[in-house]
Amino acid sequence: MLKITRRRLLQTAAVLGLIDTSTLAAAPALPETPRAPKEGRRSYVGAPTSRIDGPAKVTGAAKYAAEFGAAELAFGFVVDSPITKGRIKGIDASAALQVPGVLDVLTHKNRPRLADNDKAWKDDVAPEKGSPYRVLYDDRIVFNRQPVALVLAEDGDIARFAASLVLVDYEKEENITDLEAERANSFKVEKDQRPRGNAQKAFADSPIRHEAEYVIPTEYHNPMELYGSTAVWEGDGKLAVYDKTQGVQNVQRYLCSVLEKNSDDIHVLGPFMGGGFGSGLRPQHQVVLAALGALKLQRSVRVVFTRQQMYALGHRPATIERVALGANADGSLNSLNHEAIAETSQFEDFSRNDTGWGNLLYTSPNAYSAHKLVRLDVPTPADMRAPGAATGVYALESAMDELAVALKMDPLALRLKCYSDSDQNRDVPYTSKRLRECYQQGAAAFGWEKRSSEPRSMREGTELVGWGMATGVWEALQMPATVRIALAADGYAEISCATSDIGTGTYTIMAQVAADALGLPMENVSIKLGDSTLPQSPVEGGSWIAASVCNAIVNTAGDVREELLRLAKRMPGSTLMDATADDVTLVNGRIVRIKGLERGVLIADAMRSGTVDRLEKEKTNEFAKRDTHAQNVHSAIFAEVKIDEQLGIIRVTRVVNAVAAGRILNLKTAHSQIMGSVVWGIGMALHEETLYDHRFGRIMNANIAEYHVPVNADVHDIKVIFVDEPDGLINRLGVKGLGEIGIVGVAAAIANAIYHATGNRIRDLPITLDKVVA
Ligand code: MOS
Repeated sequence: MLKITRRRLLQTAAVLGLIDTSTLAAAPALPETPRAPKEGRRSYVGAPTSRIDGPAKVTGAAKYAAEFGAAELAFGFVVDSPITKGRIKGIDASAALQVPGVLDVLTHKNRPRLADNDKAWKDDVAPEKGSPYRVLYDDRIVFNRQPVALVLAEDGDIARFAASLVLVDYEKEENITDLEAERANSFKVEKDQRPRGNAQKAFADSPIRHEAEYVIPTEYHNPMELYGSTAVWEGDGKLAVYDKTQGVQNVQRYLCSVLEKNSDDIHVLGPFMGGGFGSGLRPQHQVVLAALGALKLQRSVRVVFTRQQMYALGHRPATIERVALGANADGSLNSLNHEAIAETSQFEDFSRNDTGWGNLLYTSPNAYSAHKLVRLDVPTPADMRAPGAATGVYALESAMDELAVALKMDPLALRLKCYSDSDQNRDVPYTSKRLRECYQQGAAAFGWEKRSSEPRSMREGTELVGWGMATGVWEALQMPATVRIALAADGYAEISCATSDIGTGTYTIMAQVAADALGLPMENVSIKLGDSTLPQSPVEGGSWIAASVCNAIVNTAGDVREELLRLAKRMPGSTLMDATADDVTLVNGRIVRIKGLERGVLIADAMRSGTVDRLEKEKTNEFAKRDTHAQNVHSAIFAEVKIDEQLGIIRVTRVVNAVAAGRILNLKTAHSQIMGSVVWGIGMALHEETLYDHRFGRIMNANIAEYHVPVNADVHDIKVIFVDEPDGLINRLGVKGLGEIGIVGVAAAIANAIYHATGNRIRDLPITLDKVVA
């Protein structure tokens, strides 16, 4: 019904000239019918289902971290450093303190006690090597816009004004922020990728060779919601902290250790998140500042960063990628070489897997990879959607396109020629890999066979038309998680786990899986998450929450079913007397035999007869460590660009992303995940770039007016295909996760399309119009 209404509205608006009719084509066509009932049983899993938290979000009922109120709430505003490296010689807060309404100005000199050792400052997601940054700890400045003071006032505007009056005297040192200028000072980090054969010699001996460098600039997550925390003073040194985070328990442990508190002194909550994309995996500095302010004032404090201050947080590291491919004349690979040089901070070694993806995708007897880091005066880089893969696969898939050109081969035919059925890093097969089907279904939907191979050979009016494709790959990770299920005799269940829902739809898929597992209508299931006191969960990241938490729900539901069967067996004249837990399932509020059509026993009756009105089970689900198979998700991306020949204006007019990611739990939220990721890929290809003034180490476009991201006008037709990929090995549900795969390869597909349109190969992102017309 909703769908029809929406389409009618769009059509009416188009007729009235209110909108461009091309948005009609862009409206996603979603199957609206739930999966066909199986043996009279309705399945929520798989069905396209609207977010259960949607109404709360669109009506404003959903509260974000900086929206929670408290009695006598005070406000903190951060004073940040204009210098990039050096020391604070002195801070004069006297003028700020004289402003009516100002309560205090915290600095490294007068703040409450903070832990004095690296171990205490290492959160769950901190890099293994290094000494984590400590906010407001001492007089050292290690990155631009570093917080140096916190002005606390009765009102946010007063705090902000008073912050402008804080005078800080700095001793400035020379800073370095330019990766390209410092690349010679790199050092190698260990990666889990063993070399094969003699890659150097094989490359030299190959009849067809391609070697080039690809450059990705520093990128920022730029979530809509600013980082903010409300630390509610509960008396006696105890705090309830509402925080914007992807991991409430990570933040809780971190706050307890850096503030030297007992674990029951601090409670962290974050029911909603307005975008994270990896920036909220590690605790951010404002949460420590809010807590410090609250402890100092002994009252509740809220701290929110400005958009500018968000550019002093972790980011996707600037990376230079060198790919060298040696092939035989038939297109088979002989030598696969991938080296990355990425930035890190002066104090922590952050790196991800940029260079190992080729060993998953393409068969080559000889291979070599290396990952190097360069220390710069920047905050430690952070995970950002598909960390390592978004960058590394951009380079790899651009290089494969260039190799196809050198071979005079169709780019898709080259991928199929080199297709690998095993993970050559470890020489193991996959639990499932339907990448061939991604290529086939994506190509068919796009119309790839109509492509003319020559660059500049397709045109439409004043525009050059280009078609490009690329491959995407990511890991199917899964982590231990604990789920508690409380089932009431009235047929309502509450599912709790400390995971976050960072906007991906976790609330909804949890409810779908639980409703199926407990045989209840979805409306009878409520979800509790985003609270550090709930059963343990890993941070929401790495695309692992769907598999981790949903399998944990099924696991705990198994205990609920066993308990219900135990109660049912004790009922007089029970028809389930001889049944075992494996014989029965929960359907439509009943315990029934899987085989046979007996009506079974009403769950409510079983509970009542056992005088149980609330049944509670909590269980940790672990995944067996598997050395025998690789676990990955894959995609094939096809992109069309249209480029104004004179002006160089690039439009990404069509993208088809065909994804194989195991079982899809919710077609609607899954579709949104991939569509949003493709939009990110468009931004990565055409817009996103952090611009530094390297003399000062300061970001010049620290705002979302000048740091460009795609807007509606940049987004045209995006088609998402989910390739059917049953996987009986990976986990009970066959779920692999979707958070990251959608962006991987998109920038390469677009860059390859731009080459096809123009004959101009641009290897440094973003591909702006000045580079296209140059
Ligand atoms: Mo994702 S970059 O692990 O939030």
